[in-house]
Amino acid sequence: MDRFVIRGGVPLVGEVQIGGAKNAALAILAAAVMTNDPVRIENVPDVTDCNVLLKAMERIGVGIIRQSKHVVVIDGSKIESCIIEDEYLKRIRASYYLVGALLGKNRQAEVPLPGGCNIGVRAIDQHIKGFRALGAKVDIGHGAICAEAKELRGSHIFLDKVSVGATINIMMAAALATGKTIIENAAKEPHVVDLANFLNSMGANIKGAGTDVIRIKGVEKLHGTDYAIIPDQIEAGTYMLASAATHGDVLVRNVIPKHLECITAKLCEIGCHITEYDDAVRVSAPEPLTSTQVKTLPYPGFPTDMQPQITVALGLAQGTSIVTEGIFENRFKYVDELVRMGASIKVEGNMAVISGVSRYSGASISVPDLRAGAALTIAGMAAEGETIVEDTRFIERGYEEFEVKLRGLGAKIERVSSEHDLQKARLKLA
Ligand code: EPZ
Repeated sequence: MDRFVIRGGVPLVGEVQIGGAKNAALAILAAAVMTNDPVRIENVPDVTDCNVLLKAMERIGVGIIRQSKHVVVIDGSKIESCIIEDEYLKRIRASYYLVGALLGKNRQAEVPLPGGCNIGVRAIDQHIKGFRALGAKVDIGHGAICAEAKELRGSHIFLDKVSVGATINIMMAAALATGKTIIENAAKEPHVVDLANFLNSMGANIKGAGTDVIRIKGVEKLHGTDYAIIPDQIEAGTYMLASAATHGDVLVRNVIPKHLECITAKLCEIGCHITEYDDAVRVSAPEPLTSTQVKTLPYPGFPTDMQPQITVALGLAQGTSIVTEGIFENRFKYVDELVRMGASIKVEGNMAVISGVSRYSGASISVPDLRAGAALTIAGMAAEGETIVEDTRFIERGYEEFEVKLRGLGAKIERVSSEHDLQKARLKLA
């Protein structure tokens, strides 16, 4: 089990390059099996969640060629089974995208029920509602979702809750249904739009992605394509917040500034200086940060996947801030660890009341989930003294070379896998 050892108190300064969006990649990789032609995908992040999904796809007969670290060619022409038996796949939420993809293509799918980060109840009723509306029979049993259909027919589906996963899953199945589907109250996240663009590049007919009404005209079949995934909004936001929390000056490259507006707006409010370029954004935080209020909401609102990172920064801002979690009910589990580092935060229900402190102090901390792991690492970089992030596995699910990129910004951080490594790292960082 690897750990990060950090010597904090160093402002992050320099440039960092953002990779492809993990959550777009998960949807796009799954959707790539929907044609029998080869599909070439660029900008696939080399993170555990994507690699696990690719492995599971390989096990059902999908051809996977890694042309280079970030380029994957997928060949869905030889799928042998629509039943995915993969214990590990249960740990990634996006396993369920194979339901939409395989149901659309082969009219049948059986996939282990999704796991993923433990951030609250993660219902799938809206996915099931959508599949059933398209004419599929859906059963849940023995820890798996089973969906099959003789025929998929377009339908008018009103989501009771804005759900990224349900919007994506329904969009995939409906792309190969007969007739027209309308998804109302659809999610508008950048990765929903990226998947729609990807499917359209394969011959689908999807309009309105990025608004709350998506219209899909089913087509008979999809064809191969060559596609590049969008930059990761959350990875970018994480480095922006790392700059803020450490009073740094970071140029975050290879981003779509429009996708970051909800984050840049909050950073301006708390006293950061932001400069936007065509495909980069610079965040500098020379002055003390000031308090604000944040509520996480579906896009274009402030993303729940950035909630722990902004809480860490606000823990160091002057005054009282309030962060309200509007998407998942259990996403403040990391706060206890932050309090052990000296933060003054009280969580009541879905709200964290933060009284800013002037500094954190290093500690040995455990990581409850992916984004909390990144946020606690940021706290360690802002803290006085040594922080040990006890288990890096959650972080590797969604951040490629996290500590390498942070080191490139001047952070004193090392990955260690043994006591011996730890002692060596301590000497190096001293
Ligand atoms: C996606 O999860 C992301 N995961 C999450 O990213 C992200 O936090 C989340 O969207 C919100 O933006 C992937 O893209 C793989 P939802 P998803 O369906 O699709 C409720 C990260 O750190 N709901 O939009 O599972 C649900 O309980 C992660 O990268 C239902 O009630 O999220 C939640 O309260 C973690 N019924 C809300 O909707 C349903 O059928 C939003 O969930 C589906 C969802």
